Amino acid sequence: MENFDKQKIDEDVRAGFPFNHRWHNNFHLEMPFGLINDPNGLVRHGKDWHIFFQWNPFGVVHKNKCWAYTTTRDFVNYSVPVLAMHPSDEHDKDGCYSGGGFVSKKTVNVVYTCNAKDENGVRTSAQRVGILKDGKVEKDKIIIPGNPEGYTAHFRDPYMFTRKGTHYLVLGAQRADETGCALIYENDKGRWKFRGEIKTDYKNFGYMWECPGIVQFGDIDVMIFSPQGLESEEFKYQNKYQSGYMVGKLSLDSLDFMHGNFEELDYGFDFYAPQVFHSAGRVIMLGWMGMPDCDDDYPTGKEGWRFSLTFPREINLAHGRITSRPMHTLKNLRKNYELFEGREFTDMTEPLYEGTEIKLDLRFGKATKITFTLNYAGEKVLLTYDKSEQTMTIDRSKMKLGGKGIRKFKLFADENFKMHFLIDRTAVEVFMQNGEKVASFFVFPKKDCIPELSITGNKEIESVDCRVWELGKFNFA
Ligand code: FRU
Repeated sequence: MENFDKQKIDEDVRAGFPFNHRWHNNFHLEMPFGLINDPNGLVRHGKDWHIFFQWNPFGVVHKNKCWAYTTTRDFVNYSVPVLAMHPSDEHDKDGCYSGGGFVSKKTVNVVYTCNAKDENGVRTSAQRVGILKDGKVEKDKIIIPGNPEGYTAHFRDPYMFTRKGTHYLVLGAQRADETGCALIYENDKGRWKFRGEIKTDYKNFGYMWECPGIVQFGDIDVMIFSPQGLESEEFKYQNKYQSGYMVGKLSLDSLDFMHGNFEELDYGFDFYAPQVFHSAGRVIMLGWMGMPDCDDDYPTGKEGWRFSLTFPREINLAHGRITSRPMHTLKNLRKNYELFEGREFTDMTEPLYEGTEIKLDLRFGKATKITFTLNYAGEKVLLTYDKSEQTMTIDRSKMKLGGKGIRKFKLFADENFKMHFLIDRTAVEVFMQNGEKVASFFVFPKKDCIPELSITGNKEIESVDCRVWELGKFNFA
């Protein structure tokens, strides 16, 4: 095990803020060094939103998994992240893996996976609880010592939810036949009893389901999870691994889940392992902006850090589908405002800021194909909407650095088209058609430049209104 000197690590992190490398983002959570991945332990307690996330403080590879920790009240001002938990004993020596948060006896508690491998590389996954005290998790009991029979040791990422006063855990798992699924444990007077698998129609859907979560909207259940091993299709599953959800009704007696199709949560290149907070009827999601096993797509590794979290998203259910929009706290980052309008045009270009929000409302008119181009001093990312095909294509292949390629998906539009862009230094999130579809991706421009946005039609575009805000930065203190 590495020497996890919390005091030194915390000091080094503090010294790394504010960031100065031009690829660091202004309004996406990041660390000055190391590799971050899944958001963990998301919980609101009183006025504070508690955010943990996976972090390797010692390098830009997937090793030494710790939990980093920050809090915020407004999603603008954050505490400087600290090391909250690190591998420390035989149970979690190979990683404090992902898990959830909950409030008990007026304190924030966490539940996480202890990952350990023996000398032959054989894995044990135990689930443990811990209590947050002064920015540090005090590890407590192991509540589930290993995987149940019939499943492999790919058994992790506990997430707690409560129904009618009973606490449950949902965990990601792999059956002995190497197919993915989610398992339920129930708390019975303080002891965690294995209840079984959530019974879904997806019996053979990838080899592992990671980071499951159960959320309720009224009396509708939504199960969120990140399956690995899906074959890519013309309009679906185009990343290495996916994150998505199913909407329906989960019986906690029979564990039958009556549900609709699996739908992806994000159609960009860089989104995985999201988790949600609930607070006063709101469901706020954070995702990891990154992708496992594709490290070469992220050139910040050479500068000493990798990955970000998404901007917080408020998710809702509309007609059986999740819609997403940036959390309302985005307004607190807004600075300058301008309105750009175009009437009966085929091409217009607008300069942007270092951080930009754009809300764009377009009427097609004669145009059937519209391209939104983010131009970084000649390096371009193209988002092309084809109305006759009803598809959106995102093309990063003209960027010199970082991940390239194309993502293509179905998106419905009639006469109007709406896009909501959040454009940070390298992290871009695009909410389309009132959040029906979202795409998150990174761009690593070679030159130090601020992008321009062009809107181009194959024929005359009837009109566009672009409301553009300069966005400020997160503040860490
Ligand atoms: C998802 C994941 C989780 C695991 C964690 C380890 O990205 O693989 O399943 O707990 O990352 O960092």
